[in-house]
Amino acid sequence: MARVLVLNGPNLNLLGIRQPEVYGATTLEMIDAACHAHGEASGLAITCRQSNHEGVLVDAIHEARGTQDGIVLNAGAYTHSSIALRDAISSVALPVVEVHLSNIHAREAFRHQSHIAPVALGQICGFGAQGYILALDALAAHLDGGTSAP
Ligand code: DQA
Repeated sequence: MARVLVLNGPNLNLLGIRQPEVYGATTLEMIDAACHAHGEASGLAITCRQSNHEGVLVDAIHEARGTQDGIVLNAGAYTHSSIALRDAISSVALPVVEVHLSNIHAREAFRHQSHIAPVALGQICGFGAQGYILALDALAAHLDGGTSAP
């Protein structure tokens, strides 16, 4: 059974309360529950973690080495600023699917750049909470050898 870490970054603990017009009404607890349910249905062992701290997220990526087969990552605002997270992903060489609830390319210019995207398998954004499920399916297909992505 493939093991997947669903890792969320800063301010995502406030989903449901935080700017619902941008991020929707779904809470992080609901997203985590949906990921667990989808994992059970599709044969993935899911672990969910969230932190507001860059170093804790770096540690979580390091800990995924040898304990997880892939990562679904919503790095929140660190997406646009963190070379450390990008380096952590390169260091562990695990497949990462980058997720954003909102369409970052349709928002402020500073959100258009992702430091994660160049080291990710791919990026899913703009589909709200459903993006996490799409990311799990993309990762499962990749781990199954079913995609031509690197
Ligand atoms: C986000 C988009 C980021 O730009 C923002 O800083 C977030 C949430 C999203 O899921 O749409 O915190 O990652």
